Amino acid sequence: MTHKPVRKAVFPVAGLGTRFLPATKAIPKEMLPIVDRPLIQYAVEEAREAGIEELIFVTGRGKVSLVDHFDTAFELETTMRERDKDLSILAPTRIEPGNLVSVRQQEPLGLGHAIWCARAIVGDEPFAIFLPDELMVGSPGCMKQMVDAYAELGGNLISVIEVPDEEVSRYGVITPGGKPDGFGGAITEVLGLVEKPKREEAPSNLIVSGRYILQPEVMRVLEAKETGAGGEIQLTDAMARMIGQQPFHAVTFAGRRFDCGAKLGFIEATLALALEREDLADDVRALAVRLLG
Ligand code: UTP
Repeated sequence: MTHKPVRKAVFPVAGLGTRFLPATKAIPKEMLPIVDRPLIQYAVEEAREAGIEELIFVTGRGKVSLVDHFDTAFELETTMRERDKDLSILAPTRIEPGNLVSVRQQEPLGLGHAIWCARAIVGDEPFAIFLPDELMVGSPGCMKQMVDAYAELGGNLISVIEVPDEEVSRYGVITPGGKPDGFGGAITEVLGLVEKPKREEAPSNLIVSGRYILQPEVMRVLEAKETGAGGEIQLTDAMARMIGQQPFHAVTFAGRRFDCGAKLGFIEATLALALEREDLADDVRALAVRLLG
């Protein structure tokens, strides 16, 4: 069966980033760099690797740098050219004109509300969602793994990872069903979804990890603007309503995930990625040994 391709990706980046204050007072959390690339760039590169070129940023006040990051930096580039500097480092920040649209979420009413703000641009098509503060490192990338599974399964897909029991209450958690044949155990049917459950009430320790492929009908569910955990309009609750109406599966991500919205995850990602960089690994390892010694 052929399913409508996923051509659009929504990046909700209008959150307040309070866990990173004061760093995020004047700059968006998604502009914080891991080594030398801001979080948003990792997410955009992951989308493009999966063949998704139409990018929709849901932004808020003080977030223009996210859009500027993918624009031409005329003065910088002219000066670099005059000084014979290599501009290839900027190549991943170039977007085909017209392929980046930003919409505003005037008030941070929750992730579900942020997604709903993109409804007019998403239109009547399946679409991907990336939470850029969840850094997914894998080869192929997380969204590429999902798009490949989507080509077979259609419907709605979320990426999940397994976490220790004591962490489940911080995330959206799935009620797992059966595993369809032919995917090497990587796909699980989703029977239910709950946002930030108490540890003892969590239906599993498989958490939703920041990547989604959803059908446009989710916008109609979000339209009701019902609030859930924390008084926010939750995407998890809207997705839960889709279960039973449309196919809903989870893809267990074969790769590593860093929760860069929290300080420890951010530091772990910085160290892990620096240790994998040919130009930095030896020096970073020596530095770490010195600091620990
Ligand atoms: P988080 O739960 O990480 O919230 O949002 P936050 O505001 O970014 O950070 P903290 O918790 O205050 O430190 C998950 C994702 O949803 C977006 C965020 O930008 C982030 O990418 N989001 C959240 C919105 O775009 N709008 C919202 O109203 C809430």
